[in-house]
Amino acid sequence: MVLRVENLSVSFKTARGLLKALRQVNFHIGGQQIVGLVGESGCGKSTVINSILNLLSDNALIEEGRICLQDEDILTMTPQQLRSVRGQRISVIFQDPMTSLNPVLSIGRQMTDIQYRDKLSASEKKKRIIRMLGRVGIPDPEKRLDSFPHQFSGGMRQRIAIAMALMMKPELLIADEPTTALDATLQIQIIDLLKALQKDIECSILFVSHDLGLIADFCDQVIVMYAGEMVESGSVRDIFHRGAHPYTNRLLECDPARIKEKTRVLPTIPGEIPDLVELDGNCIFVDRCPIKEKGCPLTWPPQEELSPGHFVRCHLNRLGRNQ
Ligand SMILES: Nc1ncnc2c1ncn2[C@@H]1O[C@H](COP(=O)(O)OP(=O)(O)O)[C@@H](O)[C@H]1O
Ligand SMILES: [Mg+2]
Repeated sequence: MVLRVENLSVSFKTARGLLKALRQVNFHIGGQQIVGLVGESGCGKSTVINSILNLLSDNALIEEGRICLQDEDILTMTPQQLRSVRGQRISVIFQDPMTSLNPVLSIGRQMTDIQYRDKLSASEKKKRIIRMLGRVGIPDPEKRLDSFPHQFSGGMRQRIAIAMALMMKPELLIADEPTTALDATLQIQIIDLLKALQKDIECSILFVSHDLGLIADFCDQVIVMYAGEMVESGSVRDIFHRGAHPYTNRLLECDPARIKEKTRVLPTIPGEIPDLVELDGNCIFVDRCPIKEKGCPLTWPPQEELSPGHFVRCHLNRLGRNQ
């Protein structure tokens, strides 16, 4: 087990009151597992990631929970301990590679800097950089060390960001929509590259995406989030073939062809996400649930395990009326 998120609840202080962004989030990422996190904008994906990286904004309040990397709780680490985790044991790539690259430093310099903990000689560090850049597909890497990020194309920049993220062989890579800004061909190349590197480095990946096709293709496990809760989680097969929450099924049923087509945006579902400042403690999906009238008590459903590792929060499964 690489990462365990236990009962994580996070709120943001806002002018209107506490916005309950995450409520009772529970999941774990096993060694070498690829876990996909999917849900509409505003469902809490970035808050999960920022909690893991301990980069929540100042107005965030961790109400409860633990995030254990192996057996250490990230939420209680000192700044010094966190520095030895970020970039070394957990690293991250974003939709926009410029988020992780420094525009005013050459890539050689940046990739040297992240090796500051290693006692290797300068020439060994340089060799490692050249090897890693070659591994991610940068042509003539030894000639590009003095280049700056803007001198590369978008696809090449994402490759460099991946090289930076994986050079220190982290236990966990967090990938937040890493291919959303790229065209379809580049998207496939980057995913294939990530697949190959994940096998080499034997790291685990938390993969955030709007793209259900990519998630089905790339991940082992899937977490479906809605309005700050995990409504369903399980293997790719559980979610794509035996989806039990009406939200999951709404996402999938909208148009199965679009899933094959590798759609970039989640299908639209009628209705709106509830106001996270004014939650009433009942089921969060009530307003958009297509099957709520079928004897559903409408209260907050407990999490149930339908089969080993397949979890859902919906009364209708218990009532045997899931459709
Ligand atoms: N710093 C913040 N202050 C107040 N509310 C925030 C802040 N960051 C996120 N939120 C709110 O928390 C909820 C979850 O946001 P986020 O985690 O960014 O969702 P996602 O990444 O899935 O789009 C949203 O309602 C969002 O408006
Ligand atoms: Mg986000």
